[in-house]
This record gives sequence, C-alpha cells and structure tokens, in this order.
Amino acid sequence: MTLPKQVKIVEVGPRDGLQNEPQLVSAEVKIGLVERLAEAGLPMIEAASFVSPKWVPQMATSTDVLKGIRRKPGVVYSALTPNLKGLEAAIAAGADEVAVFGAASESFTQKNINCSVAESIDRFVPVIDEAKKHGLRVRTYLSTAVGCPYEGDISPIAVRDLAKTLWQIGCYEISLGDTVGVGTPGKIKAMIEAVLEVVPVHALAAHFHDTYGQALANIYAALECGINIVDSSIAGLGGCPYAKGASGNVATEDVLYMLNGLGIETGVDMSKLLEASRYISSALDRKPASKVACALS
Ligand code: HMG
Ligand code: MG
Repeated sequence: MTLPKQVKIVEVGPRDGLQNEPQLVSAEVKIGLVERLAEAGLPMIEAASFVSPKWVPQMATSTDVLKGIRRKPGVVYSALTPNLKGLEAAIAAGADEVAVFGAASESFTQKNINCSVAESIDRFVPVIDEAKKHGLRVRTYLSTAVGCPYEGDISPIAVRDLAKTLWQIGCYEISLGDTVGVGTPGKIKAMIEAVLEVVPVHALAAHFHDTYGQALANIYAALECGINIVDSSIAGLGGCPYAKGASGNVATEDVLYMLNGLGIETGVDMSKLLEASRYISSALDRKPASKVACALS
C-alpha cells in the first residue's frame, strides 16, 4: 500500500462549519475567514451555500460573501446548490464551481433536502446540465456513506449504487460523507472499495466528521485506498443541522499536521492556517476544536 504523494485539501469550514453555528456570523467575518484560508494556500474553499434561508439561516449571506471576497488567483471558490434556484444565485454571485448533495439513506435525504433519493437525482440532473452550460463543474456529496442518524448502519452496496448514478449524471467528483462521524477505518475501507467498483479513485474525496474522534484514522484509511482529496474544516467547525449530535468536520489543522508528518504535499502553510483558525475562533469566542491548533498556540 502506497500513500499518495500529494493531497488536495478542500476547505469546507465557511460552509459546513458555519452553517450549524447558532450565533449569526456576519458576511464580513466570513469574508475575512475565506481570505485568510486562501492566503494559507488552500486550493479550494467552499465559501457559500444557496439553500433556503428558512432551512439554514446562517447561509443567507452567501451572495454577499462570494461577491465580497478579494479573490486569490488559482483558488476555486465553490458553493452548494441543491436546485436550479440555488444554481442561479450561485452563478449570479460568481461561484467558480458548485456542488449538489445527496445521501445514501432515505430518511436523511428527506430531512435534509425534503425529497426521496430518486427525486434528488431528478433535481440534480437539470442543475448539472445548466451548470455545465455555464462552464461550471459540479461536485457532489454523498452523505451518510457509512451511517445515518435515523437508520443506523448503511450498506456499502447502497453507497456504491448511488455513487454510480451520481457519476453517470455528470458529477466530476464524489465526496463521500461520514456525515455523523460514526465510521471506523474498516467500515470506511469497505465502503470505499465498493465505490471503487463503479467510480475511478481520482474522482473520490473523503469528507469525514469527527464526532467519535475517528476522522484522522478514517482519512488514513482513505489515503491507503488511493484517495487524495480530503475535505476538512478550519478549527473543526461545524456539524450538519439535519444530523443531530454530529460534530464538526475533521479540523484542517489536524489534517495538515498528519499529512506534513507523512511527507505528503498540500501547498498549505501551517502558520498562516493557524492565523485563520485564531481569527474565526476569536470571532466565535471559543477555542478551536483542533488539537493541533491548541498544541501549537
Ligand atoms: P423545499 O421546501 O422542498 O423546496 O426545500 P421548494 O422548492 O418547495 O421551496 C420552498 C421554499 O424554499 C420556497 O420559498 C422557495 O423559494 C425556497 P417560499 O415560497 O416558501 O418563500 N427555496 C429556496 N430559497 C433559496 N435558495 C434555494 C431555494 N430553493 C427553494 N436554493 C431545499 C428544498 C433543498 C431548498 C431545502 O430542503 C433546503 O434548503 N435544505 C437545506 C439543506 C442543507 O443546507 N443542509 C445542510 C447541507 S448538507 C450537509 O451539511 C452534508 C455535507 O456536508 C456532506 C456530509 O457531511 O455528509 C454536504
Ligand atoms: Mg459535512
């Protein structure tokens, strides 16, 4: 088993991290965060989410954020777009790339996006077609890839079958989400191996939440399977509003520390990353949920 020489870190803190924040975070603070993350060398930042503001009030400032950031050349600023209405808003705000989001479990799909898994695919197809007409690539999240907050364990076969459909309808990358953070390395590997039967490894990303402290071990398992795209969230911010109890994504600082230790290249600068971590932690008035950030500060 050889580990990849290079890993692309996709920073999802401004979206996955902040969407669950009970206190409203201003567009100005979000802009300050996104700019610092770009300065740290992160190549892709999920900066916005064009969902219903009634469902996720925290993301209602997404247009202001995308329009307000000073863009660093080469950085991809992306946004979640569950439907055509979201896509239109993302295009108007200047998103470089968009993402649809589905899940392997019916209950989570209903709670999260108010439709069945089959209906979600019917919604995604026009979003993908329209995005492509505008020259935008479409990523997809495949949530509850090992466990669902409502249904428990999810079979790798269900994940494989949905991944195949998402790949066939034209998503260029599938981010495999352990939404609740219940996975352990063996389960993660079994799930990824099933997905690899239908989707090439270069099109897969690992999106793990750290609820049970397993995220780094799970990422290592994903790297061993050949995955070299990892989603993470600055200061370990976040959780999913429709996955009660789920904690934040694995912290970007912790991922970077592990990858640095393994000699894997990322292009991300730890000291600048820590500045971003301090910035958002102080704006939220709490310590980062990153052991590395705490140890290094
Ligand atoms: P719906 O209620 O079924 O949609 O919601 P609808 O088409 O019937 O519209 C209802 C109302 O929403 C209408 O407004 C629409 O205009 C409005 P009203 O007439 O009542 O005033 N609406 C919108 N407004 C703004 N932007 C839009 C939009 N679409 C409809 N794009 C919908 C369907 C998907 C919109 C809703 O369920 C929703 O917004 N859900 C939010 C889901 C969400 O953001 N979840 C968190 C992100 S997923 C996640 O965190 C997991 C992930 O990190 C991976 C992992 O960890 O596994 C990605
Ligand atoms: Mg997530």
